[in-house]
Amino acid sequence: MLISNEGYVKYNAKHIFSKPIKVPYLLQLNNARTLMYNLGLIGVNSTGVGYGNLSIRFHGDEFLITGTNTGAISVLSPNDYCLVKSFDIVRNSIISCGPVQASSESMTHGAIYRSVSEINCVIHIHSKNIFDGMIRDKYPFTPENAEYGTPDLAIAIENCVLKSDKKEGLIVLAGHDEGIIAYGCTVEKTLKLILEIKKKYEREHIIVNVTKENNSIMSKNKIKAAIFDLDGVIVDTAKYHYIAWKEIAKKYGFDFTESDNERLKGVSRMESLDILLNIGKIKISQKEKEDLATIKNERYKALIANMNPDEILYGVREFIESLRSNGILTALGSASKNSGFILEKLNILPLFDVVIDGNHVSNAKPNPEVFLKAAKLLNTLPENCVVFEDAQAGIEAAKAANMKCIGIGSPKILKNADLVIEGFKSTELSEILHPLCLNAKKQQK
Ligand code: BG6
Ligand code: MG
Repeated sequence: MLISNEGYVKYNAKHIFSKPIKVPYLLQLNNARTLMYNLGLIGVNSTGVGYGNLSIRFHGDEFLITGTNTGAISVLSPNDYCLVKSFDIVRNSIISCGPVQASSESMTHGAIYRSVSEINCVIHIHSKNIFDGMIRDKYPFTPENAEYGTPDLAIAIENCVLKSDKKEGLIVLAGHDEGIIAYGCTVEKTLKLILEIKKKYEREHIIVNVTKENNSIMSKNKIKAAIFDLDGVIVDTAKYHYIAWKEIAKKYGFDFTESDNERLKGVSRMESLDILLNIGKIKISQKEKEDLATIKNERYKALIANMNPDEILYGVREFIESLRSNGILTALGSASKNSGFILEKLNILPLFDVVIDGNHVSNAKPNPEVFLKAAKLLNTLPENCVVFEDAQAGIEAAKAANMKCIGIGSPKILKNADLVIEGFKSTELSEILHPLCLNAKKQQK
């Protein structure tokens, strides 16, 4: 048995390692994969086990599917896809080729393609919220005893597709906790089904729930305003910054890795450039630096030109809306000079009472200027503010401003935060939000 991106591959695999397979619409499929990853619908859980996968039909019943163990990769390349040449549900076997072995869910995808010839795309996502809603509202489902990656599930899925809409639809995998399958005639239509069902159920998730108030760091603090960093808290722009910086490094003939990119989070554009040039041991004049920063920014802006509200990180919009409806003031406090452009693309400008970004400060984070300016414009004392930050530089800035700080990410990296949460979808939210709101309401009286 092979360890797979969803635990274990349960079928017998015959795989021939080969160069990436070129199929039409791979770019479109890969863009859909990136979006699913950014929305947390495909990814890796806290124990390192991947979830979710997607595929597209090639010739006949052959299909290209994401490879096993790719859940942790934010942006896939053609090297991360595998062509399933044939599959046999009865014998539980799969024959495939490509640079990587096929996803553990290949049999399920195969069963769908085999059952209806008009289906050309299958996307398998995970979401507790959507899963619970679909079960409750009696969407087509596979039985609880049909476990992931098994012939039983493949047969159950096939039955489900044949009984429901044959060209496009959604199936909830009752025996595969949080698992949902969408299928359609095109990548675009399949993606649309997911985005619609996500919209339908995600709002139910952020519920202001009275729990463990005494445990919360917030209950002891009179919070009147919340200041949000943008990049990495509201939207994942780090990957676009990375592509643009990597191209600059390539120009100068050195490699710039994803782990190098971590060092640029929260850091201003010019300081980011200094770090990059330092990594490549490159020395250039101030004028050349300015030109390079402009080139990088033009490339970055081209990459974010098509950004849309679907890229807002999971739950953050609802979280900010809940704060506002409970009387908490909100501000944006970002190092980016592109934040206005991004807020407009995401259509979330109205979520903030005040926006302070790289265009309004002369000292970059970890200097507290950005947060202090936001607090001043909100007419709120720093000690009554809480900052949401994903970068170490931002957490230091919040602390230097004498504000509370909630880190978004890993506690191993964000050491000085008062509290660290994985993102805006976890249950800790109620522990933060409820006391925050209580405090605001008490102060309004
Ligand atoms: C921060 C990002 O928010 O903004 C950094 O985390 C980036 O990576 C900085 O360098 C400046 O952004 P911009 O858009 O002004 O180049
Ligand atoms: Mg950030």
